[in-house]
This record gives sequence, C-alpha cells and structure tokens, in this order.
Amino acid sequence: METRAVDRGSNRIGHVNKVQYVRRDFKKRKCRKIKRPPIPVVPMALQELFVSCREVFKGPGTVPLPCDVEKLCCILDNMKAEDVGLSSNLQFFKPNVPVKGSPRVTYTTIYRCDNFSLCIFFLPATGVIPLHNHPGMTVFSKLLLGKMHIKSYDWVDPTNSDDTAQPCERRLAKLKADAVFTSPCSTSVLYPTSGGNIHSFTAITPCAVLDVLGPPYSMEDGRDCSYYKEHPYASFPNGDMGLGEEEGEGYRWLEEIEVPENSQMDGIEYLGPQISDI
Ligand SMILES: [Fe+2]
Repeated sequence: METRAVDRGSNRIGHVNKVQYVRRDFKKRKCRKIKRPPIPVVPMALQELFVSCREVFKGPGTVPLPCDVEKLCCILDNMKAEDVGLSSNLQFFKPNVPVKGSPRVTYTTIYRCDNFSLCIFFLPATGVIPLHNHPGMTVFSKLLLGKMHIKSYDWVDPTNSDDTAQPCERRLAKLKADAVFTSPCSTSVLYPTSGGNIHSFTAITPCAVLDVLGPPYSMEDGRDCSYYKEHPYASFPNGDMGLGEEEGEGYRWLEEIEVPENSQMDGIEYLGPQISDI
C-alpha cells in the first residue's frame, strides 16, 4: 500500500511510505505459506499513454502524424491526477497554504528514452516556469491539478532557426495563447514551429502539469532549452512588418537571455505508479 504526502516543512512534493521491503532470514519450514507483497497495479491510462508514446514518437527530426496526435490527446484528456499518484487532497495543492520563500518549481521524470519523456512539473502558487522554447520538439501538456496562466508564442519566421540567430538578437514572435487554464481542461499541443513552441507558465493556485516531450531536451543533440525576455512590438522599428498599433498587439520581440534565476527547479524521484516497460 502506498500513500503520498507533501513535506509541509519544505513545501516539497514527495511520495512517502512507499512499500518497505524488510530483509528477513528465511528458515526452511514445512507447510508455511510465503506471503508475497501485493503486485502494484499500473493505472491503465498511464500504461496506455506509455505504450502509445512508444508507437507515436519516431525520434529526433520527426513530428507525430495528426492521427497520432489525436490519439495521445484523447488519452491525456482522460487522465487524472490519481493516474500518476497525485490527489487534490495533498497538502501541496491546498490553495491557502502559504509558500515559504521563493516559490520554486519541482519536477519529476516518470520515464525517459531517446524518443520521448514523461515528466510532471509542480508549481506552487505564484510559481513560474519562465518563457522558454522546445527546439525541434512536439510537446503535449496536460494540466492535472490547479489553475495557471499560459502564454505562448511562435516565431514569425521559423526558418530563421535559433542556431543562426546571434546571441541577444531579438526576433519577432506572434502571440499564440494568453489565457488562464483550470483543470480539468483539454490537452494542449505545441510543435517545432507552431502551436506556441515558446511558452511560460505562471501558477495561480498550486499546479501539477504532465508533459509529454518528443523528443526530450538533449544538449548533445542540439535541443537545449533557451530562455527569452519579451518586449512590446512598438519598442523597436520593424520595416518588414510595419504593423499598426492594434495589429502589433499580437506580436512581441523575444530576446534570448541567460538562464533566469527563477528557472531553477528541484528534481525529485518519481514514486507514483510505475510503468511496465516490456
Ligand atoms: Fe515547456
């Protein structure tokens, strides 16, 4: 039997009281039944998600087919916090629990391979995952618990890749989403050059977000995470676009910045229901 809780002192999420295996010295005795620990049940939704991800993500440089995107969205849309061992009853998710110090974001990895990864991000109220990109990646985000503000952008000229941009160069981006999402809500999907590939999360209440990333970030493969600062469209002249004040509202200049301090996250071990990787 496994229960989960939040360490109130540090406000960190953890899964405690995991099955403890006690080492025993077995003596040979006749007619004695050995009690086996119960086999943990893998929630169907999590296992189904894993199996589908293995079929759908074909590796770096590929994007899932529309029918496969639909399939993953359908699974994720039906997933609940309980499927990954979470519950709104956990102390962490109580809306009135004050956050001590700066609200640090925590993450845990359920599974990772070369083609995809499954992660959960935990944001305390007012916690922020600052504006960042997902180079060459398709990302499914499912808000499992809480309420958060999501802002996302796509490059106006995606062919001008991040590799060729000069450091600190500003690039024009089109606002894709700027809205508050409350769980349960539909899964959102971003693609390498569309769907809001550059996004930021700001938690209004404590949140848990399940992210499916295909392929995962990899510095060795040139898929490192970059961070950005946004400037209003009107801040800089732009001969090519020449948008009016009203049209310019939907655009921002994004300037790449050093890794911001509030992007630092604490990693914790995933102790929720395990995937069967066979
Ligand atoms: Fe992200």
